Amino acid sequence: MKAFLPVALLLAALPALAQDIAALTAETKKAVLPVVPKVVAAMQEAVAEKGVAGAIPVCKDQAPELIKAKRQETGWDIRRVSLKTRNAERGTPDLWEVRQLADFNIRAANGEKIDTMEKSEIVSIDGKPVFRYMKALPVGDVCLKCHGAVDGMDAGLKAKLAESYPHDQATGYSKGQIRGALTVKRPL
Ligand code: HEC
Repeated sequence: MKAFLPVALLLAALPALAQDIAALTAETKKAVLPVVPKVVAAMQEAVAEKGVAGAIPVCKDQAPELIKAKRQETGWDIRRVSLKTRNAERGTPDLWEVRQLADFNIRAANGEKIDTMEKSEIVSIDGKPVFRYMKALPVGDVCLKCHGAVDGMDAGLKAKLAESYPHDQATGYSKGQIRGALTVKRPL
């Protein structure tokens, strides 16, 4: 009988955990997700006004700055990651993130919509509970200018990217693929 007790306790705790995850997810999304349409809008505006090469600072500086401001506001660890990075120093995923990004690609291949694709989980890091959230970032029309086929790229842009990012892996995408994800880590 004794051996079953932990299982019974675990089962009793499960609905509470599910509720925690739902509440944490809602709270995290509310705080962090407004950054995404802001960056997309800034990108569309910059490309229209300054041309593609002139819009590089939106993905290079403005997006990281908006994310940094959110980090300071919330105290959470917030980043952009990808399986194919342009800036590996900033965008390399950890093991959990690699797993989710791979899973996102499988989910997309199975027909799930990327716009709403996300993952929430409470994990244990160094013995402490941490809430983790990831949201897929879809490749839209404007993204293709800098993350699409290299052949079709503006010559000035190509030169600028090659100069700043000699190890650029973030090209060759097509519309509707997953460029990467916004990722959040909240110690509980
Ligand atoms: C004007 C060119 C340009 C456009 C358009 C553009 N990006 Fe980027 N993107 C960049 C550059 C440059 C970086 C490297 C940023 C850095 O140095 O951290 C980057 C990096 C990223 C990263 C971080 C991971 C990595 O690869 O290093 C993500 C995610 C990303 N872009 C998504 C998007 C999405 C989604 C769109 C469309 C809404 C988009 N980008 C449109 C130039 C662009």
